[in-house]
Amino acid sequence: MKILALSGSIREKSFNSRLLDIAVAGAKSAGAEVTVVNLRDYDMPLFNQDLEYQEGAPDAVVQLKNLMIQHQGLLIASPEYNGFPSPLLKNMLDWMSRQQNEHEPPMFAYNGKIAAVMAASPGAGGGTRGLTILRILLQNLGVMALPGQVTLGQAGQAFREDGRLHEERLQLAAESLGSDLYDVLMKQASELD
Ligand SMILES: Cc1cc2nc3c(=O)[nH]c(=O)nc-3n(C[C@H](O)[C@H](O)[C@H](O)COP(=O)(O)O)c2cc1C
Repeated sequence: MKILALSGSIREKSFNSRLLDIAVAGAKSAGAEVTVVNLRDYDMPLFNQDLEYQEGAPDAVVQLKNLMIQHQGLLIASPEYNGFPSPLLKNMLDWMSRQQNEHEPPMFAYNGKIAAVMAASPGAGGGTRGLTILRILLQNLGVMALPGQVTLGQAGQAFREDGRLHEERLQLAAESLGSDLYDVLMKQASELD
């Protein structure tokens, strides 16, 4: 069972990427194989249907989509921008939803996927509002999101130098989100056998 981990921020010291790292560690310690993607390495233009029609999907889209197809789980951390997931994440998710050709089944990159979501913010809300919208988006894409989630408020003060969270309860919650995703994926795989 492979998990693709994505942060909706490419900011160098992104709180979301750091929170994601903790969930990734939790998934790995449960036995998951995790691929962490930095969206900076998959630079894609703002979705434009004319560009798609004239030039097809950009290389970064094709590469990330192929990678996504090889993974069963998604661990997603997203900043909250004015109550919504980041445009970087939304744009990537839109590109991934496009059919490459008429032989490709609709939503091929998303079929059967299970996700776990989290958010971090320097504000008190921890990005909760953005996750509500992200859940709707994932549902529209056919991705089942686990009911549990982690939101980290006051993120500017939350991390220790070694990357762990000062608050042990939140550290465990983030690790568990990763391991829970792996457990659900394993359970689903054994039921399909
Ligand atoms: C355009 C914009 C809108 C924002 N809106 C919110 C918001 O609605 N709620 C919130 O908690 N933080 C908001 N923030 C602050 C972000 O949470 C903050 O920049 C955060 O560090 C981004 O995540 P990152 O650290 O992973 O890059 C906003 C920031 C920007 C640039």
